[in-house]
Amino acid sequence: MPEKILPPPAHIGIIMDGNGRWAKKHFQPRSLGHRAGAQNFRTITRYASRIGVKVLTVYAFSTENWARPAEEVGALMKLFKDYLQEALRDFMDENIRVRFIGDTSAFSSELRELIEEVKQASAPKTGMVLNLAMNYGGRAEILRGARAFAQEVLAGQHRPEELTEELFDSYLYTAGQPAPDLIIRPSGEQRVSNFLLWQCAYAEFVYFDILWPDFTTDDLDRAIAVYHSRQRRFGGV
Ligand code: FPP
Repeated sequence: MPEKILPPPAHIGIIMDGNGRWAKKHFQPRSLGHRAGAQNFRTITRYASRIGVKVLTVYAFSTENWARPAEEVGALMKLFKDYLQEALRDFMDENIRVRFIGDTSAFSSELRELIEEVKQASAPKTGMVLNLAMNYGGRAEILRGARAFAQEVLAGQHRPEELTEELFDSYLYTAGQPAPDLIIRPSGEQRVSNFLLWQCAYAEFVYFDILWPDFTTDDLDRAIAVYHSRQRRFGGV
């Protein structure tokens, strides 16, 4: 009997973890692990779009990742550049809108220009929204939102008591998007690592003992099946 195909949740977040361990396992430098991870990111993104995911958020670079050796940071920047250039060429075929969450002002002017170009080129796309979390930290995002609201209070545009959860949502990078339903973390670690802290309040977490470069489309299907097997109660009974 054919397996019943369940619709994917609207918003999936992925912490792409394990590139370094994958490289070590294959006696390669860490940069090659990231390259394999970037290749897998392309595969999983295309698959997610094809199966009808509305929003996919991937953790590509955290606010803490600057602390890695300069060579590794440089290799990651090169992978981002390559991907963004490739995305500009491929946008004719893909119906994916790329958005960036995080403080992109910290990147090189070349990367910032590419980010702008990709944002603009993909803005008319009506399919899946791909949030690339780059120089992203959940705490920094919440602080940024709180500061923006406080400024508006000072300017007399709001009163503090007007701030509700719904209004605060609109101060976040993900304003207007549904909250993540499912967060996947491969590599065996079971931590949230500053990812979508506000937004993940009711997300289901699925962990895999598989390193990100080895995470397949079948694993994504499996995560979606696990998600459907959970009973989401949103604090109710
Ligand atoms: C965590 O694995 C992964 C990262 C810090 C980088 C994630 C980036 C990619 C997958 C490339 C993305 C590329 C594009 C184009 C978006 P780790 O290095 O911490 O692995 P480890 O815990 O095994 O050392």
